[in-house]
Amino acid sequence: MPTLIEVPKGLTGVVVSSTSIGDVDGEAGYFHYRQYDATDLARTHTFEEVWHLVVRGALPDPATLAEFRREVSEARASIPDSLLDAVESLTAAGVTTIDVLRATLSSLAADLQLVPTIDGVVADHERAGLRLAAMAPTIVAATSRFRAGLSPIAPDPSLGHAEDYLRMVTGAVPSPELTRAIEQYLILTIDHGFNASTFTARVITSTGADVAAAMAGGLAAFSGPLHGGAPSRALDALDAIAAVGDARCWAEGELAAGRRLMGFGHAVYRTADPRSALLREIARTLGGPTADAALAAEPIIIDVLRHHHPDRVLEANVELFAGVVMERCGLPRELFTPTFAVSRMVGWSAHIAEQIIDAKLIRPSALYIGPKPGRRPVSPKGVVGETGDPNSGSSPWD
Ligand code: ACO
Repeated sequence: MPTLIEVPKGLTGVVVSSTSIGDVDGEAGYFHYRQYDATDLARTHTFEEVWHLVVRGALPDPATLAEFRREVSEARASIPDSLLDAVESLTAAGVTTIDVLRATLSSLAADLQLVPTIDGVVADHERAGLRLAAMAPTIVAATSRFRAGLSPIAPDPSLGHAEDYLRMVTGAVPSPELTRAIEQYLILTIDHGFNASTFTARVITSTGADVAAAMAGGLAAFSGPLHGGAPSRALDALDAIAAVGDARCWAEGELAAGRRLMGFGHAVYRTADPRSALLREIARTLGGPTADAALAAEPIIIDVLRHHHPDRVLEANVELFAGVVMERCGLPRELFTPTFAVSRMVGWSAHIAEQIIDAKLIRPSALYIGPKPGRRPVSPKGVVGETGDPNSGSSPWD
């Protein structure tokens, strides 16, 4: 038996793989895609350019970009009609948008005739990842329209990904200012190291499962409030602050009740989250009452957190101003996490491709801490009375 190595809870600080997609420097407050500063990319490039960089390894020249945009927009529009019917039924049944997206991935695996990643060629799996990521905005927007009792709006391949997404949700071509705001948000959230959802997608890929399975697993991990599920809660917190009328009083009350303040703190950053810095800037430029409320509450909440956790830097993370920007762009709160997923699926597709090539089953161990085991027989079958013993013969399924 190999020597077991105990690692910190949450795998904090444990290197489990190598990647050339990007990384986060939590001490410096910096993250990058390939060799480029990610916030610089968000300031200077389009979503499709950065998408190409992340999945193909280089910023595209104009001809390559035109071809890539065509590939993405064709995929965005290639939703089977049967899938739209499924989206409508799931929405009518009250399934949340992120779960509709997750469910449709399983159905798309059949539509696209995906094969396990252990079979076939990597290029086909990469194409599958691109197609699934490109379809996400169409599925999310259709879900939102059905939920509002409206018909879905067909994709327009002549538009950029971010612009078309907003148009498919709201029904109107967005202004260049709002298009650029949502595009910058999407660029900032494509990838972010070995976070829980990316790691989950890679674990699933390591089993040889198909690309849709890995993406669906990533989405499941992502949906949790401590990960991608926080932005709408951050805005709910702003509502609660408005109701209380005093941010400090609200924050103290939440902490006293043992609750976390959503939109603050980060597993890796020990300084300001650089995504938050750019999103704050965008929110300030766009303006509006929610931006004002967030800008006013942020320093007070940081101060309260500093007081309660003097040894831990707890600043605003990506989620606080992400919610502000998304709301200002016309996205309802229910779409905040799905919108985050629209960009993160691009990152997962790159990680899935990298993991396919890495080709090693991820299979850690756990330290057993239950009752001392031994080669003891279980109770004889059919003897009733030992409560909790699955072999006691009391099961109705026997
Ligand atoms: N509010 C109150 N207390 C906090 C917060 C917060 N937002 N964040 C951390 N803390 C406290 C914890 O209670 C803990 O205190 P203790 O040591 O007295 O028990 C201490 O800081 C350390 O917390 P951990 O959970 O060990 O830190 P971790 O790095 O695992 O947590 C996390 C990171 C989950 C993001 C955390 O900061 C949090 O829960 N934030 C709120 C949820 C949120 O905004 N999530 C989105 C993150 S960004 C993203 O995933 C895209």
